[in-house]
Amino acid sequence: MPSLPLVGETLAYVRDAPGFMQRRWSEHGPVSTITFLGRPWTVLLGPDACAEALRNADKAFASGPGWGYLVGPFFDRGLMLLDFGEHHQHRRVLQQAFTRQRLEGYAAALGPAVARGVAAWPEQPGFRAYPALKSLTLDLATEIFMGGADLATPDELARVNRAFVDCVQAATGLVRADVPGTRWGRAHRGRRVLEEFLHRHLPAKRAGGGDDLFSVLCRLRDEDGTAFSDDDIVNHMIFLLMAAHDTSTITVSTVLQHLGQHPEWQERCREESLALPEHPSLAELDSLTSLDLVVKECLRLVPPVPVLARHTVRETEVLGHRIPAGRHTALMLHHSHQMPELWSDPQRFDPERFAEPRREDRSHRHAWEPFGGGVHKCLGMAFAGIEVSTILHHLLRRHRWSVDPGYRAPLSYASLPFPKDGQPVDLVPLTRLPRSAA
Ligand code: HEM
Repeated sequence: MPSLPLVGETLAYVRDAPGFMQRRWSEHGPVSTITFLGRPWTVLLGPDACAEALRNADKAFASGPGWGYLVGPFFDRGLMLLDFGEHHQHRRVLQQAFTRQRLEGYAAALGPAVARGVAAWPEQPGFRAYPALKSLTLDLATEIFMGGADLATPDELARVNRAFVDCVQAATGLVRADVPGTRWGRAHRGRRVLEEFLHRHLPAKRAGGGDDLFSVLCRLRDEDGTAFSDDDIVNHMIFLLMAAHDTSTITVSTVLQHLGQHPEWQERCREESLALPEHPSLAELDSLTSLDLVVKECLRLVPPVPVLARHTVRETEVLGHRIPAGRHTALMLHHSHQMPELWSDPQRFDPERFAEPRREDRSHRHAWEPFGGGVHKCLGMAFAGIEVSTILHHLLRRHRWSVDPGYRAPLSYASLPFPKDGQPVDLVPLTRLPRSAA
């Protein structure tokens, strides 16, 4: 079917991104050009082409102008939107907010907040897990990232949450200008609300010794002892909230689907969780080996960030194909996750493929890349692992659930992938008491 000149391949991608990637790969190979959201984009498919762009040996691929075109000005100067020397400098400082010791602190705060959240889930057939998870991860972000109730009243936090959601939703807006009543209009207003809120609380955060991420960012220093400016802290906070939110939600939602469809895996994971205390330490969370296999497999099947955006700041080459300067480039990492050359029966849920001796993820250095690679590789990977396994640990200890084995999540790829039907699961009471509570 011929495509419309401006819309181009956008609709085909939004309707079925994995199918779109498969067709492109078989018809055009690893490097080709499409029209997406009104612009020509070079598409890179397969682990070799993506790896070359991620290695970025000639520093041709910039992240800021690539992502900036998609997510708009609402996450300006967040780490992923910075490039080259400046990115390196900020990343070195921000890394200190994610050391093992810091993670221990966030994990300790996460446990009780997650327990409160999942205890409120009603045990009923067809429970929409996705919106419930979205609101849970947003509350967790407010709690762990900003210090929650210590910082503001419930009404103010609700207003901040709304502003944040408006910023995230703008990515899919068709009108890409500050026009009242449109997604972009709401996101511009949302960004102003977030900036005002964070700037207002900054002096108290700088003065206090809190363990939330906002307070930690205020205390970070570079090698010369220089702290981030107020604007840097606000920009990093807004980006981190965004980076942490939908990605973790999608991951847990996919796990709920597959554990609901594979009760034997659900029981295996539950056994391991019931053997731990209600609030495990980081080392104990690491011992949830079945859950780890399941999460890896779910990140393979539905990577929350299926495509990375870049923009060429100079002419370059990938696998011998010339890419002109000034070209948007899409690194379609998801496709590597579904290549039969790299994975046995790739469409099948099969967590054991990540276990010894199979280790199919080692079929190619870049076969499995849900967290990206190169200098922009996810900085919150360890945090995400803790958040996802803490939520699942509590769900497994509190609830049992099932999902029709024939169910296929109707995913929308208009922004990050999400189930359009809200991911229904049949939640039933877990009759057995946790071993540690017996
Ligand atoms: C399962 C959850 C997550 C997934 C799948 C994920 C995935 C990714 C991917 C693919 C990138 C690379 C983007 C690129 O190269 O263009 C990235 C970057 C980033 N992520 Fe995550 N992410 C997750 C959770 C988180 C969390 C929880 C945080 C913060 C606590 C976070 C913070 C970041 C940051 C700061 C960057 C930018 C790194 C840089 O540019 O140097 N992410 N993430």
